[in-house]
Amino acid sequence: MRPGTEPSPIHIPVMVPEVLSYLNVRPDGVYLDGTVGLGGHAKHILSHLNSDGRFVGVDRDARALDICKETIHAFATPISLYNRSYDTIPSLLRSEEIPPVNGILLDLGLSSLQLSSAERGFAYSTDGPLDMRFDPESGVTAESLIQNSTEKELADILYQYGEERHSRRIARYIKKAASMTTISDLLESIRRCTAPAHRQRTLARIFQALRIAVNNELDSLHHFLDTFIDSLAIGGRIVIISYHSLEDRPVKHSFKQFNRDGRLRILTKKPITPSIDEVATNSKARSAKLRAAERII
Ligand SMILES: C[S@@+](CC[C@H](N)C(=O)[O-])C[C@H]1O[C@@H](n2cnc3c(N)ncnc32)[C@H](O)[C@@H]1O
Repeated sequence: MRPGTEPSPIHIPVMVPEVLSYLNVRPDGVYLDGTVGLGGHAKHILSHLNSDGRFVGVDRDARALDICKETIHAFATPISLYNRSYDTIPSLLRSEEIPPVNGILLDLGLSSLQLSSAERGFAYSTDGPLDMRFDPESGVTAESLIQNSTEKELADILYQYGEERHSRRIARYIKKAASMTTISDLLESIRRCTAPAHRQRTLARIFQALRIAVNNELDSLHHFLDTFIDSLAIGGRIVIISYHSLEDRPVKHSFKQFNRDGRLRILTKKPITPSIDEVATNSKARSAKLRAAERII
């Protein structure tokens, strides 16, 4: 098989019926997917739109956008895809002269493409460089982040973004490693300072922490949450799927704040979680939490 012709990894979109129901897709509406990824949710949204509607997709990962383009090109609805961060949506709509939209979707976290590409360095199950950037063309890799952080700064990252209780010890072992350029270097440091029984969970926390720091994920989310409201039309819906409490908490607080200001009606009093059947067929859905709201003024 020639390089570049490998089949695209399958990404199973999470909670599709719930997403469509909370977005309340109007056939002639304008819908924006701020983490369009491989187009998993996009194709379901597009199947409810007609040629008077419009679909806008945004992602930081250009490779994902290439695959997404292939997935959704046959729909009759006008489609525009942009390689940028979802926290720039307000300026994107202004510069492209797109009026406030009828629905915005954010499905935070990682796609299967990113997890299964060893060279991206997101997964601890495959060796590869310590990269972890959503946009491999810009920003600082996990390797540089570790190299340029003091032991204390690294421990703070592991504690704040991974809620890792043994952050100081783990940071000490990571910093004292002779080499720290690959996933196996990182795994070896963690192996040296953790008990086997706890290792899988520790790995998940450490990888989450480094990924959040490398991509400034929480800054993007906070900035988006502060500014998205004017990008929604009156009656427009926002749906956000998060995968851990550091993402879900600010979403909940932002919706509550806009609700107190009288601008949003919260549609999900408690976060919606996937059904047992969905988790059985797609284990990546197990930690998903969906919150939705509607702009009222
Ligand atoms: C869980 S995947 C989305 C999958 C998509 N819903 C689907 O069904 O194919 C999350 C996506 O968000 C993207 N992403 C992460 N942070 C982003 C940001 N600040 N701006 C835009 N995209 C971002 C990642 O590159 C990844 O493609």
